[in-house]
This record gives sequence, C-alpha cells and structure tokens, in this order.
Amino acid sequence: MQEAKHEHWSSGWTFLLAAVGSAVGLGNIWRFPYIVAENGGGAFVLIYMAIVVVFGIPLLMSELMIGRNSQKPPLAAMQSFEGSKPQMLWNAVGWSYLLVPMGILTFYSVVAGWTLDYALGMGIGTFNNLPEGGSATMFQDLLASPVKLIFWMTLSIGITVGIVARGLKSGLEKTVKILMPALFIILIILVLYASITGDFARSFAFMFKPDFSKITPELVLMAAGQAFFSLSLGSGAIMVYGSYLTRDISIPKMAVGVAFADTAVALLAGFAIFPIVFAFGVDHSAGPGLVFVTLPIVFNDMGGIGQVFGVLFFLLLAFAAITSTISLLEPMVAQMSQSGRVTRARVAIYCGAVLWSVGVFVALSNNILQDFHPLGFLPLFEGKTIADTIEFLSANLFMLLNGLLVSVFVGWSVKRSVTLEEMGLGDSVLFKVWFLLVRYIVPLGVGFIFYDVVL
Ligand code: PHE
Repeated sequence: MQEAKHEHWSSGWTFLLAAVGSAVGLGNIWRFPYIVAENGGGAFVLIYMAIVVVFGIPLLMSELMIGRNSQKPPLAAMQSFEGSKPQMLWNAVGWSYLLVPMGILTFYSVVAGWTLDYALGMGIGTFNNLPEGGSATMFQDLLASPVKLIFWMTLSIGITVGIVARGLKSGLEKTVKILMPALFIILIILVLYASITGDFARSFAFMFKPDFSKITPELVLMAAGQAFFSLSLGSGAIMVYGSYLTRDISIPKMAVGVAFADTAVALLAGFAIFPIVFAFGVDHSAGPGLVFVTLPIVFNDMGGIGQVFGVLFFLLLAFAAITSTISLLEPMVAQMSQSGRVTRARVAIYCGAVLWSVGVFVALSNNILQDFHPLGFLPLFEGKTIADTIEFLSANLFMLLNGLLVSVFVGWSVKRSVTLEEMGLGDSVLFKVWFLLVRYIVPLGVGFIFYDVVL
C-alpha cells in the first residue's frame, strides 16, 4: 500500500454509512419501485437480486480494493497501480471514472431538486385538496418551469458543494452520520404505516412471486443497469470512498454490507409504496410518475395524516439524494485537489460551477429544449433530449463499460499477490470464487449486456 496524506474514515461503521449513503438514493426509492412495476414484479426482483450477488458484490470488492490499495482518487489510482498494462487503457478508465459521476450529477441534481420542491410543497400544503388529475398537472407544471427547475437544481448542487468542500471528516462523515439514521427511521415509519393500513399481502406477492414467463433479455438488461446504478458501481464513488479506508477493515465484509443494505432499502421502498398504492386502487405502473404523481394522490386521500407522511416521504427522498450526490462529486474533487496546489473548497466550487452550467441545459431539456436531440443523428440516440443523452451515456454505456474494464483490470492485470492480500481471505474457497467471478463471469456477463445495449 502506498503512502497516503489524506484523511481516513473514522471507523468501518462510518465508511459503511457513507457507502450505503452513496448506494441508497433516488435509484432505490424513486426508480426501483417503478421499474419493478413496469417489468412485472417478482421476476424482475429475482433477476435483480441475482445480478447484485454475481456481478455487484465482486465489483464492489474490486473497486474498493483499487481505492484502498492505491490510497488515491480514481485517475491517480489507475495511473499508479502496480502491474497495470497497457497503461494508456487504464488511464482512460481512470478518466472515465472521474467523468461518469459528473455526468450523472448533472441530471441527478435536477431530480434531487424535484424532491426538494415536493418536500416543501407537501409541508406548506400545496398538495392538499387536489382536484381530479391535479397531481399530474402539478408535476407537469414543475417540469415545464425553467425557473423552478433551475432554482431547485442550484440549491441541490449548492448543498453538495458545501458539504464536499468541508472535506471527509467535517463534511461527508458528519452529513451521513445525521442523514442516514434519519433516512432509516423515516423509511421504517413509512413501511409500518403502509403495511398496517395498506394491502401488504398483495404487495408481497407482487414483489416476490416471480412469473417466469416475464423474464426476457430486455428485463435482464434493465435489471443489470439498475443494479449498477443502485450500487454506485462504475462511477468512481465506491473507488474514492475505498481510498479513505484503512488497512484493518475487511473489504469483502464491507462489500456485502453495502450490497445487502442497498437491496434491503430498495425492497423496503417497495413496501412503503405498493401497499398504499394497491389499497387506494391507483395505477401502480405509472412509470417515473409513480412517486411524483401517484403518491401525492394517495397522501391527499389520507387527509391530515397524509400531509405528515407526504413531508416525511419527500424528505426521505431528499436525504437519500444528498448522500448520493456528495459521493458523485467527491471523485473529481479528490482528484483535482490531491496535489494540494488548489484547495478542496475551491475545486468543489469550480466543479459546482461546471455542473451548474451543464445542469441548466439538462433542466431546460424538460421544457424549452425538449425537441432538441443533440446526438439524434446517431441511431442509438434517436429522440433523446439532452438529459436523456447524458443519462444514457453516463448511467448506461460508460458505467457498464467501466465495470467491465475494472473487472478485466483486477482479474487479469493486477498481481494476484496484491488482490490476495487486499481481500484478506487467504487463498480460500471464497477468494477463489470471487476471483473466478471477476476474471471470467463479470467481464463476460457485463460484456454481453453491453453488447446488447450498443447493438
Ligand atoms: N446509487 C445511487 C442511487 O441509487 C446513484 C449513484 C450512482 C450514486 C453512482 C453514486 C454513484 O440513487
């Protein structure tokens, strides 16, 4: 292991809180439930969990290992890692690990902005006494308003920059120590409420009774994309968090912990949402609008208590989003401030400014620029707005490609003695299984999925 001059996590627990904070986000609470609903429930959940175990955990371990062993942010890590050839390729992967999270942040900040708008709106009663169709109109109004979208996006980037600027211990650690327990408490309250008052039995069957006829290549593809995004893989977040780990912490244990908690939260989010959605007989396959259109109707129908749960729910989403956005900004900030020539705070502000400038176009692609398709001349990008294009490039293509290349890197290029030592499992069966997965199964599986996305 190389000399590190930066801060480290105070303990394994704080690392776990932060890494779970990164993993648990809009992907779990907003995206997972509606994707499950759109893809036929149980079958999707089953495939998703299999992918988390077979691809997710081995890759989490690989990324944590690269971070911890090098004690450096992604680009520097890939540049300096022992045994790495051809170096040009690994440098490119390092760059990709810095740029993908920035790309994700541009649209993630906009959606994080929606959650802030909704939390406030619920609080001040904007959603009370909604007329028929009112919640759909309100969501459309938000998307149609450049001023609102840009305002909330600015706030979410501002909060993220403010936290990251303060550094690991007084910024990131402090934030996750407050927000993560709050998030778990709110989630448990919502699940309890939903399962007591809602249709729990139907939700359970919906999520866990697989209809095997629904399993198609597209479903597998969706599940893989969702798993990568939800586990924060291929995006620098896990790698950079790994670089703040000390040697006494077990990487395999941490990886299993992150994967378990992330999946548990996604399932719990389903149990907070589906029982009430089923009980109120509203449409559960409303797509991205499930949380922003359908839930406000339900909260509205509940009367006074609904408003309380509404505020809690959107606060939960906002907290989950913030503990993810900080992990998305950290790789670039760590990389650019590592030489010590420019302060971390200044780098964070510069990055925030760049993000904001791109974010404005992302926000506008919901309204004024909705007919602008920047790469529309390419078949793969046909009909995609600026937001869709950035999302597809960062969250689909390059995330998967990064994961693929990192598994090749760890499985084929890094010295076995290094991996053996970092995993701390000895030359055991567990180690061998992990190595086999990283060396063959992950590259082949992800390669196949990637091929499917591109062609
Ligand atoms: N995992 C986060 C979520 O589920 C998103 C994310 C992706 C965060 C990549 C960091 C890196 O919402």
